[in-house]
Amino acid sequence: TRVAVLISGSGTNLQALMEQVKKPSSSAEIVVVISNRPGVMGLKRASMAGIQTRVVDHKLYGSRAEFDGTIDKVLEEFGVELVCLAGFMRILTGPFVRKWSGKMLNIHPSLLPSFKGVNAQKQALQAGVRVTGCTVHFVAEEVDAGAIVVQEAVPILVTDTEDSLSERIREAEHRAFPAALELVGSGAVKLRDDGRIDTEQY
Ligand code: GRF
Repeated sequence: TRVAVLISGSGTNLQALMEQVKKPSSSAEIVVVISNRPGVMGLKRASMAGIQTRVVDHKLYGSRAEFDGTIDKVLEEFGVELVCLAGFMRILTGPFVRKWSGKMLNIHPSLLPSFKGVNAQKQALQAGVRVTGCTVHFVAEEVDAGAIVVQEAVPILVTDTEDSLSERIREAEHRAFPAALELVGSGAVKLRDDGRIDTEQY
């Protein structure tokens, strides 16, 4: 499966995905890394791994539709079959999401549907829950609401700060995203037309 990874920053999730696809058992190949911001660490990680990179700077586009259209052209140029949003901090338009329905995954630092949106780690701390985690889901038009592929639970310690919790969640992300990539990339998990998960098991 030809995979594109979309990033906006450090790319630690990208790093985990790059390490996963190098395994002989992997059914995926990362063919391009696209960032909406120039000069971010994630682009350096991709280049060091010999993966092609593209910057599509959202500030250069007059509309979200034009920005998404340019992303889509790059995805088509590379014959991409599966898109992984790895710390990609842009909301994608309906037409783009619909085109890539069932072929686009996102990672979110909470156990969805709890704590949607930004600062999910902080929301969990402030809610006083003792367990949070991360979720890899298919991207749907509603933000943070697509069918869930993989989740991993993470304890919240009484000593936790937003930083210490975020670090622990990120470690879980680096296991959950590669696992989800293999499930979807191998065809074991698919998105049904009704928006729910279809697995070969049942
Ligand atoms: C992660 O915390 C992820 O949950 C969120 O953005 C961050 C990405 O970090 N979507 P990185 O760029 O993969 O290091």
